Amino acid sequence: METTDSHETQPTVVYSPPGRISLRPMTLSDVDDYMVWATDAKVARFCSWEPCKSREEAIKYITDSVLTHPWLRAICLEDDHAIGYILVMPVDKIRKEIGYVLARKYWGKGFGTEAVRLVTAEIFKEMPEIERLEALVDEDNVGSQRVLEKVGFTREGVMRKFMVMKGSVRDMVMFSFLPSDTLK
Ligand SMILES: CC(C)(COP(=O)(O)OP(=O)(O)OC[C@H]1O[C@@H](n2cnc3c(N)ncnc32)[C@H](O)[C@@H]1OP(=O)(O)O)[C@@H](O)C(=O)NCCC(=O)NCCS
Repeated sequence: METTDSHETQPTVVYSPPGRISLRPMTLSDVDDYMVWATDAKVARFCSWEPCKSREEAIKYITDSVLTHPWLRAICLEDDHAIGYILVMPVDKIRKEIGYVLARKYWGKGFGTEAVRLVTAEIFKEMPEIERLEALVDEDNVGSQRVLEKVGFTREGVMRKFMVMKGSVRDMVMFSFLPSDTLK
């Protein structure tokens, strides 16, 4: 990933060292791939969004929320088809939060770990103002916690009764990675 001064600059495609996945901006032409994970209730279980119900809804979401997102990349296989996405959301000037989603068919193959490792390795170069990259994970979302631990995030603790997710008050685990931390 090259350094960019502005989010308006066209982002660079990033390839993982083993060449298994690449990251690139998502476009409307990814709508069918997007629907594979976005319509899946099991994928959405620990996410704030509800499963998408139609192609029209998917097009609207990509148009309104993906194309306008400050930092979101499709996670792609070698044939360039998207199997999920990974994003970095602003919390404030020095804190950003990472989030990621993969289509269920691709779970358990190391792609989530690879994508989080790629972004963590590069985001501090691209946004040198970041002092802390955070991840807030549902206490029951064991897979996502494992991904973060494998990459070298620090598990800081459980934020008790931290948020309402789909009508249920949830305990959330706070993870962080600082620029001085060691990537695993
Ligand atoms: C979370 C998610 C991205 C993980 O991606 P993934 O590609 O399946 O993860 P990996 O294959 O890189 O696995 C990383 C580790 O987690 C473990 N793991 C993955 N899913 C797991 C699960 N459901 N339960 C227990 N361990 C799990 C793997 O075994 C692996 O550990 P190991 O190397 O010690 O065996 C994926 O499950 C997903 O998209 N979930 C739905 C969306 C979501 O919850 N996003 C995160 C919101 S915070």
